[in-house]
Amino acid sequence: MEAASSSPTQCRYSYEVYKETADWLLAHTEQRPKVAVICGSGLGGLADMLSDKICVPYKDIPHFPVSTVMGHAGQLVFGKLQGRECVCMQGRFHFYEGYNIHTVTYPVRVFFLLGVDTLIVTNAAGGLNDSYNVGDIMLIKDHINMPGFAGQNPLCGHNDERFGVRFPCMSDAYERALRDLAKQTAKEQGCDSFLQEGVYCMLAGPTFETIAECRVLQTLGADAVGMSTVPEVVVARHSGMRVLGLSLITNKVVTDYESNDKANHEEVLKTTQRRTHDLQRLVSNLIIKI
Ligand code: HPA
Repeated sequence: MEAASSSPTQCRYSYEVYKETADWLLAHTEQRPKVAVICGSGLGGLADMLSDKICVPYKDIPHFPVSTVMGHAGQLVFGKLQGRECVCMQGRFHFYEGYNIHTVTYPVRVFFLLGVDTLIVTNAAGGLNDSYNVGDIMLIKDHINMPGFAGQNPLCGHNDERFGVRFPCMSDAYERALRDLAKQTAKEQGCDSFLQEGVYCMLAGPTFETIAECRVLQTLGADAVGMSTVPEVVVARHSGMRVLGLSLITNKVVTDYESNDKANHEEVLKTTQRRTHDLQRLVSNLIIKI
C-alpha cells in the first residue's frame, strides 16, 4: 500500500491519490453516474441487472484495495438501469478483514470525485428489535458508530477541505426524502409488509455478539447490528452525498441464556439468498426515481 501514509496525524491517502484513481476510471468509461451502490455480501446481483455494463476488477484500478471475502466478486460495475447510469461496488471492504478504516472507505471518496451525489448502501444485519422478522428489510434512519466510539472514525487525521468540513453533522445522515421514496417504492412493489425503519449499530466484528452485548445494544436503542456500512456513510456525508441505507435482517440475535440458537454465517447467507431478489428490485426501482 505504497500510496498510504503511515502517520497517525495524516489522512491515510492524499487527495492526489484518490484523484489518480478517479481520473483513471474517468478515462476507462464514458459513463458519468450520479448514483453509487455498495452491495452487501450476497447482494451484488443488482449489478447483473444493469445494461451497457462495464466491469472493472478492483485489482486493475490504480490504488484501489482488493477484496478478500469469498463470494465477493471484487469489481466496480458501471451501467444503466432503464437509462439511468449508476455504478455498483460488487464486494466491499470490511474492517474485520484487517483493512485500515481509510481503506474501507477509499471507494466512497473515489465516487465523490467521479461526480456521484447519491450513495445507496446495503448490508446484512442481525435483528435486535423484537418485532422484526428474519427476511425483513430495514431502512436505516440513523446509526451508532461503535468503532467510532473506540477511535476508529475514517475522518480522524488531517482534514482535507476539498472533501468536506472538519466537523461534519451526522444527525441527518440518512436523508428522509430518500427514505420516503423507498417506502413508496416498497409499497408499489408489494414488499411494504416486511419493510421496517430503524437504527443500525456497527460493530467491528468478525465475532457475532455475545448475549450480554446484544442486550446492551438493545438498551442503547439499536434495532439491527452489523459489521459494515457506517464508515462509508460517514465519508459520504462528509462530502455532502445523499445517503440511503438498507439492512436485510438475516437472523435474529440471541438475547436469552436459555436459548440454543446460535448466530451463524450460513443462516445469514440463506436469508440473503431468499430476499436478494426483493432487495434488488427495491433498489433498482428506487434508482429510476432518484
Ligand atoms: N451480527 C452482526 N453482523 C451480522 C449479523 C449479526 O447477527 N447478521 C448479519 N450480519
